[in-house]
Amino acid sequence: MHSDNSNLSVIYADTLFDFTNQMISNTDFDHLILKAKNANLEQAISQLKNGDIINQTENRKVLHTALRAQSDETLSLEMQQHIEEAKQVRAKIRQFVDELHSGKIKGATGKTIKYVVNIGVGGSNLGSRLVTQALARFRHPSIAVSYAANIDADDLYQVLQRVNPEETLFLVTSKTFTTFETMQNAIAACQWLEEQLSLDSTTVLKHHFVGITTEVGRAIEFGIAPERVFEFWDWVGGRFSLWSAVGLPIAIAVGMDRFEELLAGARAMDEHFFSAPLESNIPVIMGLIGAWNIEENHAAGLSIAPYCHGLRSFPAYLQQLEMESNGKGVDIHGKPIKTRTAQVVFGSVGSNGQHAYFQMLHQGTRQIPTDFIAVAEDLNIFDGHQDQLLANCFAQSAALATGRNYPNEPHKTCLGGQRSTVIVLPQLTPFSIGLLLATYEHKIFVQAHMWNINAFDQWGVELGKSIAHDILPVLKGEEQNISLENSTQNLINFVKNIRRKMNPKN
Ligand code: F6P
Repeated sequence: MHSDNSNLSVIYADTLFDFTNQMISNTDFDHLILKAKNANLEQAISQLKNGDIINQTENRKVLHTALRAQSDETLSLEMQQHIEEAKQVRAKIRQFVDELHSGKIKGATGKTIKYVVNIGVGGSNLGSRLVTQALARFRHPSIAVSYAANIDADDLYQVLQRVNPEETLFLVTSKTFTTFETMQNAIAACQWLEEQLSLDSTTVLKHHFVGITTEVGRAIEFGIAPERVFEFWDWVGGRFSLWSAVGLPIAIAVGMDRFEELLAGARAMDEHFFSAPLESNIPVIMGLIGAWNIEENHAAGLSIAPYCHGLRSFPAYLQQLEMESNGKGVDIHGKPIKTRTAQVVFGSVGSNGQHAYFQMLHQGTRQIPTDFIAVAEDLNIFDGHQDQLLANCFAQSAALATGRNYPNEPHKTCLGGQRSTVIVLPQLTPFSIGLLLATYEHKIFVQAHMWNINAFDQWGVELGKSIAHDILPVLKGEEQNISLENSTQNLINFVKNIRRKMNPKN
């Protein structure tokens, strides 16, 4: 670690985390570390390591690190048992993936499976989709993995255009196995196969469906063969679940060995997080500086700019990870939190973002820090691209920090002072992606601890779901007597009128 006023950076596992352009003084940095010590952050980190953190409002343990840990006798027996459970499911995944790759797994008509479609949303989609995209160059040559998440039928429909029904396997990924988007898409996929193959639902579900869930009974009841259900557990939060069986589509896309390398990368970051002193602990520094930006520097958002096409879905993944975890206004005791908490996370892949929202970062009126993520060496197919990409990434971080004054042309002046972190991965490998994602998981844990938030529940999203439940029968015309908000009723009336206008015969 180098730390002085002009250079705050940490290199770990050949990965650079450069905080220089956060422009934090030594005094402020020392103050943040002291604040973290006073808040017993070190104890909280050991509690996470030992599996002692509890998601109080759901009365669940928080053990996603067990999914990538290696058993060791210093750990509690309970932790060792969970590590073993995870290992057993990984053995089952390995066998299944090997059978798929060797062409042993056939559809109902005897054709080898060549297409895999993951149906799932939120944490049952974003992480595995991101990693599958990022590792595209390691893709198994004979199997194509796609994702359908949205309840908008267009999402699934467009995926189905690209697959051959006889050769397609659907993975229904849902922690609860009740999420309406996923269940409706799973039913639609089943009906589509029944029609395409002229088979009954029992046969289709038996040969063409896999379940990935904590609710094994529900998946079996749905019609999926028990041996095709891959379990994970309620001690894994949805947005922290890609390391579990939820990562099956990744393992199918790139092979089980690479999935294990992904876990090894995450484990390497766990080891660092659990053992490094606070002042050189990467997720701690990221979390504390992020909170400092929110609380002291009035950051209006956090821009995520991966200068790497493979990581183009990273902003979407982080939106769930950060905002669903720490988008809370009350603390673990239910009391209002006095500081500001999670910020708006947004962004897009570089250099595209430079031609979209970066103008506002350079000359707008708000402090909006950016996390730049770059890759030192990329096996680019075309010469010259990677250096251009890196030059632009580094230039943006510098330009945002220093700005430039044009005394006679104020419209050109960039004031500078916009903070950023630059992360440089050595290469885009399973290991480095695992390391990167685990870094952000722990950064969020640090911030949650500092704000005294439970990062592992998401009660806010339930309210919208329950109102949608009331609206649906009214929209369908099945219920007249449910009283809805005026604004909602107006929207429904508009849709009904428009539909009548467009389909006068109905
Ligand atoms: O919308 C909230 C949420 O519960 C997320 O936390 C979760 O990742 C997602 O829905 C999907 O849930 P499930 O995996 O149970 O289908």
